[in-house]
Amino acid sequence: MEKKIVVSGIRPTGNLHLGNYFGALRNFIRMQNEYDCYFFIADYHSLTTHPHPEHLRQNVKDILATYVACGVDPEKVAIYAQSDVPETAELYLFLNMNAYLGELERCTSFKDKARQNPNNVNAGLLTYPSLMAADILIHKADFVPVGKDQEQHLEMTRVFAQRFNHMYGTEYFGQPQAFNFGNNLVKIPGLDGSGKMGKSESGNNAVFLTDEDEVIRKKIMRATTDSGPTGMNQEKPEAIANLFQLVRVLCTRDVYDTFDAAYNNCSIRYGDLKKQLAEDTVRFVAPFRERIREILADDAYLEKVRRTGEEKARESARRTLAEVRHIIGF
Ligand code: TYM
Repeated sequence: MEKKIVVSGIRPTGNLHLGNYFGALRNFIRMQNEYDCYFFIADYHSLTTHPHPEHLRQNVKDILATYVACGVDPEKVAIYAQSDVPETAELYLFLNMNAYLGELERCTSFKDKARQNPNNVNAGLLTYPSLMAADILIHKADFVPVGKDQEQHLEMTRVFAQRFNHMYGTEYFGQPQAFNFGNNLVKIPGLDGSGKMGKSESGNNAVFLTDEDEVIRKKIMRATTDSGPTGMNQEKPEAIANLFQLVRVLCTRDVYDTFDAAYNNCSIRYGDLKKQLAEDTVRFVAPFRERIREILADDAYLEKVRRTGEEKARESARRTLAEVRHIIGF
């Protein structure tokens, strides 16, 4: 039986954090043994918000090294940069011909980015979902391992795929599904009390896989809390629920249960919870950090990984694009 196809990517806009790890990378590692996987670095996409060349090269290298350091095996999967597969850009052009302004404008990530940066509402930002659909459809993916924040983009990918099929009277594209082991897509919360873990101005909202032990401890000890529960078995407010969510993914079940019981009977001391969370996070991150450092030192190896991935990805992309051109009538 043919293996199912898996595609996913991460934008090279800075070091990867625990949100990227638990939302995406952890799935990459688990999926690589069972599926035909294409994992790329979304460097075209990063131009929508980070258009300057000076960091691009280093950021792409950092993510390449992080993939390998976290256990993505270049012998099993294609690891490449999005810009190494320019066939994607042509498929993006075709998909854009049938992507409507209204649906693109309604996309949550577009609205967020437009609000955050009203002076740079560019067409690349607007058509971000059709480029992402091109990344996925260029390999005719079945599954796309991503965090919860990408769910809407996956829905749009299915709409574009279906519309293409309808337009040309074909069943060429399938319906790729967002994927997470354990079913529900993950949202790792940030340390600032609200929202998801992500890259912020200060960097204090996220724990990066490259953070030093002391930096991790400081960030976690400073995470937002409140003055504590005032009654038995209260519902946890967002900032506290977020901390507990981090405890759930980084600490043992016992630790979670102990602090949960302490919250419920009002004996909890947030300082103790944070100390435990900090130590478990340090233990989790340190091996990745060291491995990333080692791999980053080996330019020749990284270049070889990228070129091998590029070759495999282009072969698949060329095939799809030739068929798509034929279907359209070129
Ligand atoms: P990006 O670069 O913002 O994030 C990369 C991956 O990390 C996940 N993620 C999280 N998951 C859980 N909790 C969080 N706090 C968290 N923060 C980030 C994201 O869901 C994502 O899986 N549009 C994509 C990149 C992309 C792509 C694609 C992905 C471009 N083309 C094709 C899949 C398939 C993005 O901006 O992810």
